[in-house]
Formats: sequence, structure tokens, C-alpha cells
Amino acid sequence: MKTNEKAEWLALSQHFQQIKDLHLGSLFRENPKRANQMTLEGAGLYLDYAKNRIVPETMSLLLDLAQSAELTTEIERMFSGERINRTENRSVLHMALRHPTASPYIVNGVDLMPEVGGVLSRMEQLAVQISTGQWLGYTGKPIKNIVNIGIGGSDLGPVMVYEALKAYSNRDLTIHYVSNVDSSHLTEQIFGLNPAETLFLIASKTFTTQETMANANSAKAWILDGLCSEAATSRHFIAISTNAAKVVEFGIDPEYMLGFWDWVGGRYSLTSAIGFSLMISLGVGNFHRLLAGFHAMDKHFRETPHAENMPVVLALLGVWYNNFFGCQAQAVLPYNQYLSRFPAYLQQADMESNGKSVDREGNPVSYQTGPVIWGEPGTNGQHAFFQLLHQGTKLVPCDFIGFAKPVNPLGDHHQKLMANFLAQQEALAFGKGVTELRAEKIPENLIPYRTFEGNRPSNCILAEKLTPESLGSLIALYEHKIFVQGVIWNIFSFDQWGVELGKQLAEKLLPVLIGEDKMEEKHDSSTLNLINYLLRHQ
Ligand code: F6P
Repeated sequence: MKTNEKAEWLALSQHFQQIKDLHLGSLFRENPKRANQMTLEGAGLYLDYAKNRIVPETMSLLLDLAQSAELTTEIERMFSGERINRTENRSVLHMALRHPTASPYIVNGVDLMPEVGGVLSRMEQLAVQISTGQWLGYTGKPIKNIVNIGIGGSDLGPVMVYEALKAYSNRDLTIHYVSNVDSSHLTEQIFGLNPAETLFLIASKTFTTQETMANANSAKAWILDGLCSEAATSRHFIAISTNAAKVVEFGIDPEYMLGFWDWVGGRYSLTSAIGFSLMISLGVGNFHRLLAGFHAMDKHFRETPHAENMPVVLALLGVWYNNFFGCQAQAVLPYNQYLSRFPAYLQQADMESNGKSVDREGNPVSYQTGPVIWGEPGTNGQHAFFQLLHQGTKLVPCDFIGFAKPVNPLGDHHQKLMANFLAQQEALAFGKGVTELRAEKIPENLIPYRTFEGNRPSNCILAEKLTPESLGSLIALYEHKIFVQGVIWNIFSFDQWGVELGKQLAEKLLPVLIGEDKMEEKHDSSTLNLINYLLRHQ
């Protein structure tokens, strides 16, 4: 049966009609225990979801919907290694990457941990050699700069965590991240670096991605040019991939390849060897703390009843707004400058996973799936797009993420940050009405402009402090939330066929732009004109 034809979905539609106009202000006034009833804790995180446009019945109907999608079974299918990524015939087992290496993770009778632990040990050996100056470049100099070349899941996770945990990193080493095929990215990231002191990590699951291979080849040319020897490659390149043949073809010795497995999806690969740059920068101990945070949330997700399960509750609230309120977007607002890349990371995690319009039976869906994810750290966002959140015509549910302790205590900065954090959630939920404005003697003609209708929902996610552990839990929280939504929407969250067409067309257009192929009338008139413009002006 189609998801939106289920009795549970129809019950939610009816319920929506009954409660859609209730205001958060009255919901809070009527139930003084509301916040206590809508707070969860787990894996070092605290979730207050009381400022959502729900009543207790909403949650129980949403939980019924989850049950109708056999969520418990689906979670077990994923954790136990069933090939739930059906269109690619793969298991989805990123949870094994952060499973304690001393305890087994059995899939089809085979323990995955010896292999996972083996790669972790190799990463540790190499990371220590590099960070302690024992890894010498071709001319005998220790490495000072690491350049990670990768894109999508082979970049966004590492770069996000590198920024997020900078305070925990070894400041003697600089890690640069290059993803864009735009030559300016590589040029700027290696600007001023000495090839003799630079080590490239080529991070690509497939080792065929156009952007990554173009950057890797240019990096190789830069090294060979600078160090005047083919033999230099072995001291200045490490590969992170599942494709050993391509790694060798590129010229990297398999001894310096860190592997992972086809059961690790690109956007779920942060805790695989793809996170090697982080281990170098953060140190082995902090990297393991990050893994422990992920694992704590994996455990919470697998073992906690749905009603108290943070990823499940967040996912169901997302479904409520997406499918019943008709919200198209979801804002993610970390009140922490270190999390500046978190929304960008989540864009890939969520939108590449759940930006699908065909269900698991191959039929077009007749309901909305993944929302547009966007955001910026607070308080910067407040001086940019919060106007629309407060008074615009769109309802955008927001996730606020904050921490009780600052990483860098400085006067009352943190209290100011958190006062804003709380204020924005209050303002969105409760607004400001005419009575209050009149009491403040606001001129009548300005009252419409100064009114805040409120009733704009938000979740509040808190942790004591931004640490490797809390960051790991936070990322895993969203990973599992995305999974749950995919289950509810009956879509495949772990493939990404939607990125293929553009890649294929770019392959066809490239020979035209480099003059190896004549422009033929096979393109539409707009594309032909654009090609003409580029050829005339290049
Ligand atoms: O954009 C498509 C995609 O396949 C992502 O899913 C992936 O993270 C990215 O490209 C990079 O792929 P690879 O690690 O194979 O270079």
C-alpha cells in the first residue's frame, strides 16, 4: 500500500486539520509540564522538542506511522547488514566503522571488526609517523602541510569536522581541503606551500571521480615539477579508496593505500579511512573519541524505544512539517562558529539521501520527500535570513544546536551567544502581539510591521560542550534521522542516481570545450549558444 494511503497517514491528515491552527503560546499556557514531557536525553545530547506544533496525540500518531513502516525491523535490517541499498545491491554498515574494535560485529557469520580494526591500526601508524615528523618527504624533510583532495562525501565530512574540532587539533600541521575542479581551489590551497613538505591524501571511494582525479593529477604534476623525480610520488601521496587497481594505475603504492568497503556509502564515510586527515590533525586519541560519540548514538538509536529515540523523534517531526504542513525547507542553525560547515555537510547527507521521487517499488511518489536543508551559524544568520524565518510567508522549521560551555571562554561572549540562541527560539515560537506592542506605545500605523505572529517551530539540541564525543553523537543523530525518514517515505536513501546525468553530459561536453570534438547540433539551442559564447571568449 502507498505510504500516503495508509490508515496511519490518513489519521495524521485528519489530526492535522484539527490542530493546525493551535498556537504554541496557548499550548504552553495550557500545559505547564509540556517541556518536561517533550525532552529527551541520550548519547550525551539533550533534545527539547516542546516548541513544535504538536500535541501528545500528534506524537503517538506519528509513532503509529513509524510502526506501519516497520521501523524496528528496518533498523535491524540495516544494522545486521542486509543489502538494503537495493539499487546498488549493497549493505549499509557505517555503524561498524565506529563499533568498538574489541567486540565483534558479525554480518552473515563474518566478523567485520578484524578488517575495520586493521585499517584503523594502519591509519594510526601512518598518522603518528606524519604528525611526529617521522614521515619524510622525498628530499628528507618532514611533512608540514597535508592536502586532502576529494569531493562530496570524501570532503564535506572531513572538512566539517576539521573546522569543528580545530581547538583539539595539532596546530603545527595545516590541513588543506581541495574539492572543486575549479583550478582556483587547488591553486589557492597549495599557494606558498613547499612541495618537499607537502603530503597529498587522495580521498575517493571510486578513484574515478572527475573532479578528484583532475585535482590529483595536477597535484602530482606540481610535486614532480617541484621535486624533479617520478619517485617522489611515493613519499607525497597516500590514497584512501576502495579501488586498489585505480590507485595503482595512478602511481600510488598499495602499501600507502587506506582501504574501506562497498558497504560504506560516500556521505556516510567520515568514520572510515576517509577521515584520515582528521586522525592526523586531531591525534589518534581524539579520533577515537569522535568514533565513541558516533557509537553512543548508534547504540541509542538501535536500542531505545521509538518514543524516546532522538533520531526517530526528530525524523517524525520532520515528516510532520514536510508532509502535513507542506514545509519545503528545514533550517539547521548551530550556535557555534566551529560548526560553520555543519549545514553544508548535512545538505549532502540529507539531500543526496532523501532527494528521491520514486518509491521502493519503482513507482513515482505522490507525497513530498526530503526537504531543502540550509543554514548558517548563529548569531550571523540572525543578521541575514532570520527576518524571513520570523516574518516571511514560509514556514521553516528550525533545528537550533548549542552548547552549555564555550570552547574558548572569553568574557561574557558565550552568555551573549546563548542568550541569542534562546531568544530566537522564544521569538519564533511565541512572537509578539498587538497588545504588547500597544503597551510599548508603538504607533498604530507600524503595528502590522512590528507584529510577530510566532507559532514557528523549532527543535533545540544541546550538549555540554563541543567535544569529539558530542560532535560524533550529533552527526550520527542526523545520519539516523535521515535513515528513518527514508523508511517512512519508502524510498531508497543510500543510492544517488540523480547525480549521474550531469556527470555524463559533462563528459560529452568536455571534448567540445577543449577543441577535440566539433560542436554538433545534438545540443539544444540554449546550450549551443552558451558553448559558442565560451569558445568565443576563452
Ligand atoms: O556526488 C556523487 C558522489 O558519488 C557522492 O555520493 C560521493 O560522496 C562523491 O560523489 C565522491 O565520490 P568518490 O569518493 O567516489 O570520489
